[in-house]
Amino acid sequence: MEDPVIENLKTICLCKNIKKGTILKVIHGGCHSVDAVNRRLGTGSGDCKGERCGPKIKGMIESFLNIAS
Ligand code: FES
Repeated sequence: MEDPVIENLKTICLCKNIKKGTILKVIHGGCHSVDAVNRRLGTGSGDCKGERCGPKIKGMIESFLNIAS
């Protein structure tokens, strides 16, 4: 199993250099859509327009909601 500290340091949004831990924090704080996370953190506003990070953020939200329900 992966070390959660290292896992949280993984960059999810490469354009904006936003780490997994930062994104998880706002998901836990109530941002439950890719749009909500993007508005909060600026993910999805880089050169790729969220093409690379969007699907990963979506997956993170889905696993959080599955665990939470
Ligand atoms: S990787 Fe997030 S906007 Fe490009």
